[in-house]
This record gives sequence, structure tokens and C-alpha cells, in this order.
Amino acid sequence: MSNPGPRMPVVALVSGRGSNLRAIAERARGGDPAIDIRAVVSDREDAGAIEWARSVSLNAATLSPKSFPDRDRYDAALAALVAGFEPRLVILAGFMRILGPNFVDRFAGQTLNIHPSLLPRHRGLHTHRRVLEAGERKHGASVHFVTRELDGGPVVIQARVPVRDDDDEASLAARVLKQEHRIYPQAVGWFASGRLRFADGAAWLDDKRLDSPVVIDPESDDAA
Ligand code: GAR
Repeated sequence: MSNPGPRMPVVALVSGRGSNLRAIAERARGGDPAIDIRAVVSDREDAGAIEWARSVSLNAATLSPKSFPDRDRYDAALAALVAGFEPRLVILAGFMRILGPNFVDRFAGQTLNIHPSLLPRHRGLHTHRRVLEAGERKHGASVHFVTRELDGGPVVIQARVPVRDDDDEASLAARVLKQEHRIYPQAVGWFASGRLRFADGAAWLDDKRLDSPVVIDPESDDAA
């Protein structure tokens, strides 16, 4: 059933294959989340997500950091490019560059990111490897608002997955990714419908401050 109401303008930033973007776009075709993906923007010309965006006739743009003398100027140019599409929401979907204040402040309270760990554990890169090395039994993914602190903004929703004895990085990443495709469209849908917002440095869902994120623990259903 498609949603006849207004759709929220969204810009997606990507660096890689774009499976999260596709998961969101596929759900959006059914009307929830009620979004209009105005553009897909990448720092890498060779991103699979850009190829996919072109194949489905979405606006696709790349802005390579190599053309800029420093990060501040790159961030300012990226912010100007994104702002040109007039998004109400910016989604980072496997965007692998650290965004500085020039970008983050311009879209404060309207930028979401998906990160493959149970934040605040394992900010940064190689999260699956680090979970395995630490011998942890639980792992997962988080959707959070983007603030100046890397992977440090308020977390909206998390999905937990078990770590199995025979897991390697690839098997664990695949189990987490399946849950990413579930929680990211959910969070984007909440934002697009006005249920989720950012205020006073916190995430609010249905007018309640989220002091801890919504947690999905799919061990009881289809995570196996
Ligand atoms: C996802 O696992 C996402 O959580 C991660 O990159 C992958 C992108 O996959 N993002 C980060 O690590 C951000 N720090 P995708 O391109 O198939 O969506």
C-alpha cells in the first residue's frame, strides 16, 4: 500500500555496496518509510551504491576528497552539495568518511547513521573482528543521530545478535547486516512520520526521551 501523504526529502551518503540504502529504498516503495530519496551521494566513484542508484534512476553524485586540499573544505563542499537537494533527513548508509563540524552542524538533528556494533561498544572500524577477539557473546547494530563525536550521538534503536562459537568475521557480519536492514528502515520511518526527533542532545520517540535505545533481540524469532 503506498502512502498518499507527503514524503520526506532524504539524501543518502554512501561509500560502498549500499545494501542498507537498498533495504530502505525497497521499503520506501511500499510507502513506509514515507521518504523521497532526492539523491545518493558518494565519496567514491566506484561505490556499488552509486551504480545501483543510477540503475534505478535516482540522482547520483560523487564528490571525491582528492579534489580538496583539506577535510574542512571537503566537508563544506559536501554540505553544500547535499543542501542543494533540500533534504529534511540525511542518512549515512555505509559512508566511511569521518564528517567534521562543517557538515555535522549544518544537518544537526537531521542526520542518522547505522553502525555495526552495540554502541557505545566498538566505535570506529573493524567491529566484527574486535568482538571476536574480545570473546564477546553478543554483538549487533545501532542506528544513532550523528553528532560531532564519532559514533557517539544518541542511539535510537539497536538489534542484538548472538556470537556463535564457529563465527568468523564474514559470518558474524552477515548476521549483523540482516538486522541492519531491519532497524535502519524502522528508524528512518519513525523520523519521516514525525515520531522520532532530536532535541536537547537526545533522541525522542513519541515525545519520550530515549535514555536508552529501543532494543530488538531477535534470538527469539528469525535471527538464527
Ligand atoms: C554496514 O555494515 C554499516 O553498518 C557499516 O558499513 C556497512 C555498509 O554496508 N558502516 C560503518 O561501519 C560506519 N562506520 P552497505 O554499504 O551494504 O549498506
